[in-house]
Amino acid sequence: MATTCDTVQSVTVPFLDLQQQYRNLAPGLNEAVHGVLTSANYIQGPKVAEFERAFAEYCGVKEAIAVDSGTAALHLTLLALDIGPGDEVVVPANTFIATAAAVCATGARPVFLEADLENWQMDVGKLPEVLSARCRAVIGVHLYGQPLLLQPALTICADKGIHFIEDAAQAHGARFEDRRVGSIGRAACFSFYPGKNLGAFGDGGAITTDDLALSDRVRRLRDHGHLSKYEHQEVGFNYRMDAIQGAVLNYKLGFLDAWNQKRRFWAAHYRERLASLPLLFPSSISNTEPVHHLFPLRCERRDALAEFLRGRAIQTGIHYPIPLHLQPAFKVLGYQKGDFPIAEKIADEVLSLPLFPEMTEQQFDHVCHSTADFFAS
Ligand SMILES: Cc1ncc(COP(=O)(O)O)c(C=O)c1O
Repeated sequence: MATTCDTVQSVTVPFLDLQQQYRNLAPGLNEAVHGVLTSANYIQGPKVAEFERAFAEYCGVKEAIAVDSGTAALHLTLLALDIGPGDEVVVPANTFIATAAAVCATGARPVFLEADLENWQMDVGKLPEVLSARCRAVIGVHLYGQPLLLQPALTICADKGIHFIEDAAQAHGARFEDRRVGSIGRAACFSFYPGKNLGAFGDGGAITTDDLALSDRVRRLRDHGHLSKYEHQEVGFNYRMDAIQGAVLNYKLGFLDAWNQKRRFWAAHYRERLASLPLLFPSSISNTEPVHHLFPLRCERRDALAEFLRGRAIQTGIHYPIPLHLQPAFKVLGYQKGDFPIAEKIADEVLSLPLFPEMTEQQFDHVCHSTADFFAS
């Protein structure tokens, strides 16, 4: 994987390359979209139903309910479990805002949980400290594509009679023991935002569950509490998935395992190539098979490293620069700086390197050489 100085000059590395993904799959994707255009069946319909069946089978659950975003999936799951004003729901301090925003949308209160020093997921060991009598659910996020430490969380929730919901927005296809994420909690929520491991041509999401009563309620709520035409059981939402997204996702699902395999390949090689540099990586969690939605590392001079890489035409990301308890949107909850020092430290130092299935050896080499050059300079 050696690279000459000349090629280094010309290599650019995007954070992900959806144009290349489209080019690779264009005939099949065009046909899928064209089928929807000619059917003129644009919302839900057979293409979305087909995807729901395929995704449920892929995750190893009885039901998958397609919706129009991961945020909608979280919101509907909480509503269908009757979570609302006066209730509390535990979420990690280190995650994307949607996990907690969905809790607020029900009128319930998000309660943040500190991050784990070793694996950077939520610190399940600290869960008992934040569980009050008002707590109705814990949302465990499989952050960066790494299933979190599930067994203790499941045991604590079962003992207390609290729902455990998976936020699997970043972890399509990841495994815990012999099960896929999405089949472990009372329900799981996925996002198909275009840059996700399985991404649509716009927004999309899904709820997976084995609980048929729950899935019935979620189906109703996603479509205005629909019972039959113009008969509505309860007040719901328009969270329906477009047929184009169903057709695209159904086609792309066939490639997901191969893409995740590629992600694991690049992640393992990054670990090897960057091992001698003064960088920290999240520890792996036993009995899990991650899918590396992101490749995060920690660097004390994170901003300087990002700037240096930008100068070498390498895009990076920060997931996430502000932990949720310090977000202006959640000021009303009364948390202070210093409440979750580990989540705060991660936010100050974390940097995601480019990692996507279509990444070339040349691009990979360029990132590794450039990161090493930063520390040598
Ligand atoms: C962990 C997590 N949860 C929820 C979401 C929300 O998904 P969406 O953007 O599809 O609403 C995302 C999306 O980035 C996410 O990363």
